[in-house]
Amino acid sequence: MAAAQATALITGASAGIGRELARVFAANGHPLALTARRKDRLDALAREIGTAYGVPVSVFAHDLEDPGAPVALHRAVTQAGIEVGILVNNAGFGTQGAFATSDRAREEALIAVNVLAPVKLAQLFLPAMLKRGSGRILNVASTAAFQPGPSMANYYASKAYWPAAGSVDTSLS
Ligand SMILES: NC(=O)c1ccc[n+]([C@@H]2O[C@H](COP(=O)([O-])OP(=O)(O)OC[C@H]3O[C@@H](n4cnc5c(N)ncnc54)[C@H](OP(=O)(O)O)[C@@H]3O)[C@@H](O)[C@H]2O)c1
Repeated sequence: MAAAQATALITGASAGIGRELARVFAANGHPLALTARRKDRLDALAREIGTAYGVPVSVFAHDLEDPGAPVALHRAVTQAGIEVGILVNNAGFGTQGAFATSDRAREEALIAVNVLAPVKLAQLFLPAMLKRGSGRILNVASTAAFQPGPSMANYYASKAYWPAAGSVDTSLS
């Protein structure tokens, strides 16, 4: 019998790249834990994937703008008995326009979702991966990380966070 595949926790799985990554992981036999704000979309994707690929799919609705959301998500996933082997930090959004007149709350929310949430989720899920001696974290950045972004300065800077942070030596295989 083939070894069980690691469970992938994917943020921003209700749309776009996250939804496609969910389909790809499932097609490769990985059980899934999916999160985003729009639970109806996550539920529909879970039904689609369950039917198409037969892997277990759990859904967790959280708003990553909320500073407490990563801890709440980690707690909910753990209480559900799910061992996360792959963390996919994908949720993110951009803003556009002149920085001087930008909406301060929206720009802070961008940093919360694009930077703070991935950092917190990595801090929360990494220790168990290290303890097991296996695990993966995929941070979805962008080519925006490597160039200036006129009218999208905060978004481009947020995408530069992971390449700038560099690789973390976790001694994981
Ligand atoms: N599209 C591109 O061309 C492109 C290129 C390079 C990199 N990227 C990166 O790829 C990632 C996904 O982008 P995408 O184009 O697939 O975006 P998208 O289609 O707009 O999807 C964004 C996902 O993030 C979730 N999300 C947004 N705000 C959230 C919040 N406050 N709390 C929880 N989840 C939230 C959304 O779910 P809910 O709205 O249901 O919460 C949705 O599932 C982003 O990190 C983006 O920077 C995109």
